[in-house]
Amino acid sequence: MPLLRIVHYPDPVLFKVGRPVADESFANGLRKTVDEMFETMYKAGGVGLAAPQVGISERFFVMDVPDEEGQSNKIAFINPEIITVEGEQVGDEGCLSFPGLYQTVRRDMRVIVRAKDVTGAEFEADLDGLAARCVLHETDHCDGIVFLDRMTVLKRELAKRKIKRLQKTGKWG
Ligand code: NI
Repeated sequence: MPLLRIVHYPDPVLFKVGRPVADESFANGLRKTVDEMFETMYKAGGVGLAAPQVGISERFFVMDVPDEEGQSNKIAFINPEIITVEGEQVGDEGCLSFPGLYQTVRRDMRVIVRAKDVTGAEFEADLDGLAARCVLHETDHCDGIVFLDRMTVLKRELAKRKIKRLQKTGKWG
């Protein structure tokens, strides 16, 4: 299966609000794209990957945050909508569009999200911890928001400096 190319910051597609996935897409290639995104995400060692990160400005993402026993937990979220959030968590976050950059980001601890699966069936998921962090991060991608935008001003400045360094040494791409 061909791997998709992951775009890196500051590619403009990362800042565009994604179009909702159209009903006809479910019968026309969405599943194939989703499978390729999972494959691309696993090869890159990520736990989430949103369509804009592979150059598709649409609202969907794939995620696999293993459970406590390390069991794989593959979910595709098509047209995700955050229904409610609760609590708070502060922790390090990374992003496949920001290779080598990890920075502290404050997120909600728990999230209830509604989305469609690849067959077009609607579902709701009630997630917390890393899975909640991932859903919020990837839903942001669908809205043209990157994790830099979620950092404090100080952390964002530090992150931008680090990106410049990585770009200069050719480790960014
Ligand atoms: Ni990301």
